Amino acid sequence: MTAADKQGRTILFHSPGSDKAWPVEIQKAFPAFKVCTQFADAEPGDVVAAVVWNPPPGMLEALPNLRLIQVVGAGVDKLLSNHLPEGVPIARLVDPGLVARMTEYVLMHSLALHRQMPDLQRAQRERRWTYLHPTPPKRTCVGILGLGVLGMNCARSLSSVGFTVVGWSKSRKEELDFPCYAGPAELDQFKQQADIIVLLLPLTEETENLVDENFLATVKKGAALINVGRGKLVVDNALIEALDAGLLRHAILDVFRTEPLPVDHPFWDHPKITVTPHNSSSTHPATALNQVVGNIRRALAGEPPQNQVDPARGY
Ligand code: GLV
Repeated sequence: MTAADKQGRTILFHSPGSDKAWPVEIQKAFPAFKVCTQFADAEPGDVVAAVVWNPPPGMLEALPNLRLIQVVGAGVDKLLSNHLPEGVPIARLVDPGLVARMTEYVLMHSLALHRQMPDLQRAQRERRWTYLHPTPPKRTCVGILGLGVLGMNCARSLSSVGFTVVGWSKSRKEELDFPCYAGPAELDQFKQQADIIVLLLPLTEETENLVDENFLATVKKGAALINVGRGKLVVDNALIEALDAGLLRHAILDVFRTEPLPVDHPFWDHPKITVTPHNSSSTHPATALNQVVGNIRRALAGEPPQNQVDPARGY
């Protein structure tokens, strides 16, 4: 038996910012394994599974007997921009907790935009009593760009409180109970309807810089934007210009090209931008542990993981 045939007994957990319960719970599920939270503590040839968020470049390539790369999050753009070991399956999380938190965020900000909270807050700061008539949510169309698990759940929830919803995705989705557009040719039709545009697309070569000057020139006048996808979906200067020119009325931004958002970035004090620190949602062991444990078991049994990423597609 060669060293490569022998199955290792180490699980590497590398996600310094995550809930500390993760490695503890993984260890409980795999008592016969060593769970390391530091690369330096692991014997590289013994690592069978790596559970990671934004691992340092080269770390995964240094693990010759790896059978699974499990990402503790939904987006894999950062991971895929690394050199990765050939042929090792990558899995992302589809965590019901992450879906629920994201849905709350999108719903909360859609309601706030629909009820004109940015204008009311501005009026308060200026001590102006500005009566703005409330209208039913049906009159506000929320357009969701990206109809994966997150986008679909947001659509359902927005519809249930009465919003008009439209969607757009790369490939056509059938049998939805709201209008859905597909592919670049139908993006304008989508934009002509959306009063609030929610970005929930994965970051890929095709979606990077999608929201640029051209995109913003043809949105419905006075639309608002919520970006909970990735910062690089949006061209920062183009967004500021569109807000200043009144093409857009407000932007809610949770994700940025550089995170943390640099202190001197103009987004911080732009009157028509709300900044949140990439906390629209997150993954927790309580709702996602079973999936991670299940995928490690699958990898040990030589089976493909659930929610496997297609690196060529980028998600
Ligand atoms: C967070 O941004 C994630 O992709 O899970």
